[in-house]
Amino acid sequence: MYGTDGCLVKCSSFPCATPKNDSKDTSTTINLDHGDPTMYESYWRKMGNKCDITFNGDDSLSYFANGKSLCWFLESKLEKQIKRLHNVVGNAIVDDHYTIVGTGSSQLMQAALYALSPIDQLEPISVVSATPFYSEYPEMIDFVRSGLHKWAGDARTYEKNGVYIEFITSPNNPDGIIREPVVNGDQGKLIYDLAYYWPQYTAITSSANHDVMLFTISKCTGHAGSRIGWALVKDKEVARKMTKFMEISTIGVSKEAQLRAAKILELISDGCLDPNMENFFEYSQSLMTDRWKRLRQVVMANDLFVLQNYPLQYCLFTKDSFESHPAFAWLICKGGEEEDCEKLLKEHNIQTRCGRRFGSDSRSVRISMLSRDEDFNIFLQRLMAIQGPTNGN
Ligand SMILES: Cc1ncc(COP(=O)(O)O)c(C=O)c1O
Repeated sequence: MYGTDGCLVKCSSFPCATPKNDSKDTSTTINLDHGDPTMYESYWRKMGNKCDITFNGDDSLSYFANGKSLCWFLESKLEKQIKRLHNVVGNAIVDDHYTIVGTGSSQLMQAALYALSPIDQLEPISVVSATPFYSEYPEMIDFVRSGLHKWAGDARTYEKNGVYIEFITSPNNPDGIIREPVVNGDQGKLIYDLAYYWPQYTAITSSANHDVMLFTISKCTGHAGSRIGWALVKDKEVARKMTKFMEISTIGVSKEAQLRAAKILELISDGCLDPNMENFFEYSQSLMTDRWKRLRQVVMANDLFVLQNYPLQYCLFTKDSFESHPAFAWLICKGGEEEDCEKLLKEHNIQTRCGRRFGSDSRSVRISMLSRDEDFNIFLQRLMAIQGPTNGN
């Protein structure tokens, strides 16, 4: 399938908004609003052409994949590499689950909502998640105004009887906390969003084994632009309905993207098993550890903000104990309730996402920890320069 003189799909580095050896002038805003995982470019640049793949003109024309999966558009190479990586890392049970591929896990969220929503109810089913929740859940649900489901807000205050859907994001976006279901109902349908359950962010404490689990290459390897996510689903009927949703919305998922993702996952698993290769998770974990250490030093020094603390946990993958290093910092202004942390940081040319978007308040903001080095360094410099009424001005 991969001819040598075909069209080369290179893991090439795209132009940086902030070129190396060039510093942004002070008026340029550093955008840490999105969790855009450009931090990982440095690793993939070092990998050079190791994950290049080629396609001949006559490759991948069919809508259908060759595999025997219930998900008829899932490339068997990708399925194999997804299962292999979960087995290598030990973060999820794959054997008794169906694998469904999506255009990012964002599409799979909608597919899961569709598949879990009863069609025989007079009212749309309520969808909840505990605050602070991933801001896309309400945005995505309210946007489509489906007759099947509706956003019902904070899971902690949800008290209605009957069926409901709860998103459990663990580690959580925005605050990095390891989560369990919150609603105490017996008719809950649970969607585990495990986008960040990888060793660079948190200790792998057990193999997750839930009915519906969502993962994404965006946060695992940093290849957000490939738009590949996958769901591991226990129930055959739910898996079938999710596949149907994908069929109706996009008639499958790009084969080029799937095969590139398969190659990247293969390289990562190889790197975990071969001591002569650079282990991706060790590399990214050390970057995250360093960033978090430096951020905590700055926050402690200017005494205006509070950061979430994380417990020391033993990681079955690294065989080591460490604190989580989440993909986002959840920063809270120490001032009173009237504080607007997003506004304060914006005045210092740091773009973040306001806590209100996550069902919380404006004292808190979410800050991406996944930017390129140069942006992260400028962010720390600017944060350090902020002074409160008591320590300067
Ligand atoms: C918790 C969580 N789930 C899902 C996604 C979506 O990922 P994808 O790029 O695969 O659509 C994100 C992206 O930020 C996320 O933070």
